[in-house]
Amino acid sequence: MKVTVVGAGAVGATCADNIARKELCTELVLLDIKEGLAEGKTQDMMQTAALLGFDTKIVGSTNDYSKTAGSNVVVITSGIPRKPGMTREELIGTNAGIVKGVCENILKYSPDAIIIVISNPMDTMTYLALTSTGLPKNRIIGMGGTLDSSRFKYQLSQHLGCSPSDLNAVVVGGHGDTTMIPLIRYATWNSAPVTDFLSAEQQQQIINDTMVGGATLTKLIGTSAWYAPGAAGAALVESIVRDQKKLFTCCVSLDGEYGQKDICLGVPVTIGKNGWEKIIDFKLNAEEQAAFNKSADAVRSMNDVLKTL
Ligand code: LAC
Repeated sequence: MKVTVVGAGAVGATCADNIARKELCTELVLLDIKEGLAEGKTQDMMQTAALLGFDTKIVGSTNDYSKTAGSNVVVITSGIPRKPGMTREELIGTNAGIVKGVCENILKYSPDAIIIVISNPMDTMTYLALTSTGLPKNRIIGMGGTLDSSRFKYQLSQHLGCSPSDLNAVVVGGHGDTTMIPLIRYATWNSAPVTDFLSAEQQQQIINDTMVGGATLTKLIGTSAWYAPGAAGAALVESIVRDQKKLFTCCVSLDGEYGQKDICLGVPVTIGKNGWEKIIDFKLNAEEQAAFNKSADAVRSMNDVLKTL
């Protein structure tokens, strides 16, 4: 197995670090446009191999895509991150050009790769990756909902006083502060509905805090978060390379599912060796479906901006 992570910024490097520690592939390439950055971070990571005991070989590359040849999975993190006060959507002009170029370069050397998109605005960048490459839809996966669902579990765990890994909870819809939909009605603590243990106020607080999870961190850190986004990317890589068929919320191309088409949006899917394999139909109630449709409208108008670039 060979995996490439494009972009050696904080998210890309963290994703690569997680992939190496878990030995998800024999060769891992970290590529960045900035001279020496990927090589430097790669050497730093390789110098943890003896301490952590992993055998994945990590290779750094300054924009030399020939080194990525034959990758089974490629994670795209390239682009500028948001600064405090910025929305993910404000990044579209710069990041669209970058993501399109990266996809072209990747496919020259790895025509069969499955592509995971992390760059923001993630829903629109996923749609761009799909439409600009013309790849089969199952090979383009946007990471957003995987991260947002993990943040949702964290917020729930804070109120329940429990382990986040004992929780099942998903966030569907877009990856924007106002477009994501934490489905609290479906969330469980092992198998008990979390709503049995939380007041209406607590539930609303958890939903609100989940939705602005990324923005809260951007305000605190001064730039966009990386530990959870990087770990979410690596979790998807793991499910693909080990063919685990785990259920994650990912941004995928919809063709009538959840009442939407010609759009990439976050829904529960199984992730395995073929990319995203099956969309799972969580029955939304009228209120949730209305929120999903509103989310789709917002993402669609963002996708329309692509036509003006
Ligand atoms: C975040 C970015 C990665 O939510 O979208 O932190």
